[in-house]
Formats: sequence, C-alpha cells, structure tokens
Amino acid sequence: MTATHTQLQQEVQRRRTFAIISHPDAGKTTLTEKLLLYGGAVHQAGAVKARRAQQHAVSDWMELEKQRGISITSTVLSFEYQGYRVNLLDTPGHQDFSEDTYRTLLAADAAVMILDAARGIQAQTLKLFDVCKQRKMPLFTFINKMDRPALDPLDLITEVENVLGIKTVAMNWPLGNGTTFKGVYDLHEHQVHWFERGEDRRGRAELTKLQADDPIIKETCDSETYKNFIDGVELLEANEEFDPKQFAVGEQTPVYFGSAANNFGVQLFLDQFLTMAPTPTPRKVPGDEPVPPDSEKFSGFVFKIQADMNPKHRDHVAFVRIASGRFERGMKVKNTRTGDTLRLSTPMQLFAQSRETVDEAFPGDVVGLVNAGDLALGDTLYDSGKAFRFEPIPQFPAEHFMRLTVTDPSRRKQFRKALDQLTLEGAVQVFWLDDSTTYDPILGAVGQLQFEVVEHRLRQDYNVEVQMEPMGLKFVRWIDNPGDKALQLSRSTRPATDNWERPVLLFPGQWDMDYAKEKNKELVLNALSTLGR
Ligand code: G4P
Repeated sequence: MTATHTQLQQEVQRRRTFAIISHPDAGKTTLTEKLLLYGGAVHQAGAVKARRAQQHAVSDWMELEKQRGISITSTVLSFEYQGYRVNLLDTPGHQDFSEDTYRTLLAADAAVMILDAARGIQAQTLKLFDVCKQRKMPLFTFINKMDRPALDPLDLITEVENVLGIKTVAMNWPLGNGTTFKGVYDLHEHQVHWFERGEDRRGRAELTKLQADDPIIKETCDSETYKNFIDGVELLEANEEFDPKQFAVGEQTPVYFGSAANNFGVQLFLDQFLTMAPTPTPRKVPGDEPVPPDSEKFSGFVFKIQADMNPKHRDHVAFVRIASGRFERGMKVKNTRTGDTLRLSTPMQLFAQSRETVDEAFPGDVVGLVNAGDLALGDTLYDSGKAFRFEPIPQFPAEHFMRLTVTDPSRRKQFRKALDQLTLEGAVQVFWLDDSTTYDPILGAVGQLQFEVVEHRLRQDYNVEVQMEPMGLKFVRWIDNPGDKALQLSRSTRPATDNWERPVLLFPGQWDMDYAKEKNKELVLNALSTLGR
C-alpha cells in the first residue's frame, strides 16, 4: 500500500459531511452558528449572519434576498474539530428553494433534523425528511428551543415515530422546559449537563456535570419538574438502545434535546454526532459497482450551481462533492456528459461568503469551481480510466407554472440560450406545449420565488426582458413514451415536452390527473424525473 493511499484512507476516516434540515424558524441558522462556535470556526456566534449581511451590501444577487428578507444562497461550512474534518452543507432557509435543499442532501452522508420543541414536526420538515428516507440516510434529531414552553418530550418522540415512521432512541433527556429548563441528562455518560444561562448568549454556556441524583438538582427544581425528570430518566434507561445498523440505513434516529440559542446541549450533540456520523459513503453508479471513497482515482459530481455569487466577476460556481481519490489544484479531469477535459485551476472553498483557494481536498469535501458554462448539475468528473456516471440528480415536480413571453422578439436567441443554461443549472423547469402556436415556454418551479430569480437572471445575465403570466396548472408528471396510442385526457390537461424532450402531462388539478389514470390504464405518471437525459 502506498503512503498516499494510507493518507487517503486517513483523510476519508476523519471526514463528516452532513446537512441540516428544518422547517423555517426551527433554529437551523442558530444551530449552525453554534456548531461553528464549538468547532472553533468562528469566535462569536452571529458571524454567519453578519457575513451574510455584509454580502448583502455588495451583491446584486443578494439584493433580491435583501428585498425579500430571505436567504437563498447556500454554502459549505468546513472546520477542523478534535481531529475531524467537518463539512456542513448549508441549505437555503427559504422553503421556496427547497429543491436546492433536496439536491444538497444528495451530497451529504448524514442529516440533522431540527424540530422546534413547541411545534414538533412541521410541513417542511416532513418534505425534507421524505428525501432522507428515500435515500436511507442516517438521520440525527435535535429538538430545539427547550428554553421555551415545550411539548412533552415523550409526546415529541412519539410524534417523530408516528408521523415519520422512524424508530427513535433518546440520547439525552431534558431537565425541565421553558423557564425551568436546566440542562440535559446524557444517557451515555449517565450525567446531567447542568447549564447556567449566560448574560451573553453568543459565547459558550457554563456547564457543570452532575450525577442524576445530585441533591442540587432536587433543591433547585420545583417538585413537578424534578419528578418528570426522574420518571423520564428511568424510562430512558429502559429505552431501546442505539443500534448502529438501523441508524446507518435511516431506520432509527438518535434524538437530542437542547437549546441552540442558549448553547444548552450543543457541545454534547456535536461530540456524539462526530463519533456516530458516517464517514464518506461509497457513491452509486447505475449498472455498476459503487465507487468507494478510498479509490485512488479521483471522482466527484456537481450537485449545485450558484449563479452570481459576486457580481464583480459575474461568475457561476459549480459545487463538486468529491466522491473518491485525492483532489489537487490544477488537475485535469474529464466530464462524462460532454467528454471534455477540464483543468481545475481555481478550486475554492467557501466559508460564508469568503473564498479561499483549495490546493487539495478529499472525499466528503466540497470544492467550488468557477463555471464558464462547461459544468451542469449532475455532471460526473473523473480523472482517468473508463467513463462512468454517478446516479442522476432527481428533478422534483414543479408546483407553480408561468407562461413566459419575451418582450423584445429580437432577443429570442439569447432567451433560448438562457433557458438552456438555467435548465442545466436546475434553476427552473422548462416545458413546451405540444399544441402551442407560439414559442412561449411554460416555466415550472417548486417555489414561487424561483420565478423572480429567473426573471432577475434573464435581465442581468442575458439582457432579456420577459413577461410572466400565471397558468392554471398544478401538477406535472413525466410519462413513459406514450407511443402512437392517443391518450384520453381531460380538456384542460396539457401534453408537453420538457427541455430534454421528454413527454410530460401538465394538469390543472387532481381531478384531471385521476381522469388520465382512469382512462389510460397503462399510463405511468412519474412525479420524479432526473436532470438531463
Ligand atoms: P432557521 O434558520 O431555522 O430559520 O431559524 P433561526 O436559527 O434563524 O432561528 C429562528 C428564531 O428562533 C431566531 O429568533 C432564533 O434566535 C430563535 N431561536 C433559535 N434557537 C433557539 C432556542 O434554542 N431558544 C429560543 N428561545 N429561540 C431560539 P429571531 O427572533 O428570528 O432572531 P434573533 O432574535 O436571533 O435575531
């Protein structure tokens, strides 16, 4: 075994790449900041938000975020902690950009689901959880905001089991909630992490470790809080054990309670997370063996394209998740889709909005590559040997539809080019009606706000002004080639093709979709498609 191979294996072993999923407001940004704080990547929580705010001032792209008070962009936050290399794939906070979050999950090896202790499972958590479930991803659960009046912890755990259909194992148990919240009991070490609320929430919380029967607990807590705590701990000790096998395939989730804002239980979570979270997993290749991360040949795939990160450069950044081998600045790689060879001369790592050049990187890491249009979402990059493709990136069905008309017909050529580019980036879905007498496409988006982004991009990057007109459509379904047989459809169902010339049906409502199924027994309606042919 060569020294390089040993180094590669060591680097793989110490990497943890994950994403956080939550309903907006559950505390994703706060927990991210606190993990960075404990990981030593920032010295004061608030830095991520502060950097975002600074960036708002300099970027047109961010202008849209600023105007709408939302956070669209997502970045990769990396830090070293106790010998681990942690890669936190940050996902957009706004649910209109949930498609970006779905894709980011493809690049992660594990996910952390944050729940608000007063609300339990919310709509967006459920949607994102489904993606994790489909991929059998290892999932951690962090129940946040225990410093606020919370639902009963047992009810919260039961809700996770019943609504999500996943087994739970409590790793710690809260001592009180709201104003009585004093800390958490760590099942592993059999100790209470007893916190003092600091004046300044931005620093680390003062922590004392106590035995569960330490008199100070009984003396300090009211009798009801104390009784609930002791009952909970007894229950916990008799609880189902953490099962690494079930966890590895997303069938059991370890549950943590805490308060991200107050730093209660954050370090405990981080420390246990790092020992339990998977190392970079082998990546699937349809029709072939998965690619192990410690294969000496470099490979990776593009899971996100971010446009206009810096208007001064007008560049796009393609984010590549490294799947195998060692990545080196300046290396030449092949793109399976185009057959082209690219020299990766300006790889970057992004921390919040600042960029650093990367000289080397390993499986599990994410590097940003300046994209002059030669990289598309889902592209596989490899450095030698037989060409292959990682599994394609799924395309989620659009839920909103607009007809797009170019205001100035002389810009039509640029418009087509722009649509092709935006489709490759996965920024929007484009459909062409079979019976259309115009060249106007239908745009589909998972979230309404995506339309604004597209309008903004068309204007800024391609100098194309458009008009958008809402369509009374609700669903898109990809269909297997319908052949010659005419389909029996409701009058308002619109047959069309997507930008990759695959047949679709656009439905104005559930009734029309049911009608199509009823009248065409062999018709298969696919809610998911893939990006690219
Ligand atoms: P998100 O990224 O999931 O959308 O949520 P974010 O972290 O922005 O948190 C949403 C709100 O919840 C924030 O308040 C945040 O301070 C608060 N929060 C997060 N964790 C906790 C917690 O453990 N306890 C309590 N009590 N609150 C928490 P905000 O008023 O929107 O903003 P700000 O006060 O932080 O400026």
